[in-house]
Amino acid sequence: MTSDEAGRLKGRRVLVTGAARGIGYAIAEAALEAGAAVAILDRDEAGLTEAASSLGAKGRDPLTTVVADVSSHEALAGAKRELEARFGTVDTLINNAGIAYNAPAEEMSVAEWDRMIQINLSGVFYCTQLFAAPMLAAGRGAVVSIASMSGLIVNRPQPQVAYNVAKAGVIMLTKSLAAEWAPRGVRVNAVAPGYINTSLIQGFLGTDTMRDYWVGGTPLGRLGEPAEVAAAVVFLASDAASFVTGETLVADGGYSLW
Ligand SMILES: NC(=O)c1ccc[n+]([C@@H]2O[C@H](COP(=O)([O-])OP(=O)(O)OC[C@H]3O[C@@H](n4cnc5c(N)ncnc54)[C@H](O)[C@@H]3O)[C@@H](O)[C@H]2O)c1
Repeated sequence: MTSDEAGRLKGRRVLVTGAARGIGYAIAEAALEAGAAVAILDRDEAGLTEAASSLGAKGRDPLTTVVADVSSHEALAGAKRELEARFGTVDTLINNAGIAYNAPAEEMSVAEWDRMIQINLSGVFYCTQLFAAPMLAAGRGAVVSIASMSGLIVNRPQPQVAYNVAKAGVIMLTKSLAAEWAPRGVRVNAVAPGYINTSLIQGFLGTDTMRDYWVGGTPLGRLGEPAEVAAAVVFLASDAASFVTGETLVADGGYSLW
């Protein structure tokens, strides 16, 4: 991070979902480096505790953690009450929690379809509705959701219809909420990453699919790193993006150009 970027989120109170590992962890780390007070939410309690202690061990503010599954509105409402008691209200929400799942459309079960939509799309709506309420009341706030290039293009060769549809939904959710809430002082944006080096794609490491399609199809010729997504998130969350709302910033190494 350059000195120009440091302090970009000074004084802000940020909640990052799905921050026990991967991109969410990197976002929490970048938000701390940018001067924010950060709370992290995940359904993985052990991972969350570990993430909080490793981030805390770097000499930053102690992190507040809250356990919840983003697919449950009820669980999130409880998490919000808990968070407000221990951390206060948030003015910046980062919707990052998500899963990946591949299956041919004709073989996908209803339960698999529903689970994907529930976590990757409804979860973003539930979190935003709940955690943005105090922002609307205050007339100030920012929401950044992690969509995917898969919400804009169809990836190959893996069949992932439910994931693609859920992420396309996140992009339209972002535009719709941005339009509704612009007059209320709350900006809503998204980042659409390409293939990023996290456990989400671990099953493909070293495979022909990864080498030929994913890396081979990326003009920059490599996977992205979680910190490279986090940098885009910090920009959109910060006042550097004060005139940006409803935007989806694509961070895919150029994959969707070809
Ligand atoms: N890795 C990639 O290539 C890539 C590309 C584009 C978009 N994304 C998106 O980035 C986000 C983070 O992905 P990642 O690669 O870091 O994945 P990851 O699997 O490494 O981490 C996901 C985190 O979210 C948490 N989580 C999952 N479901 C949850 C739920 N229902 N409630 C609460 N927490 C939950 C997990 O416990 C985990 O800590 C996801 O939304 C994903 O779709 C990832």
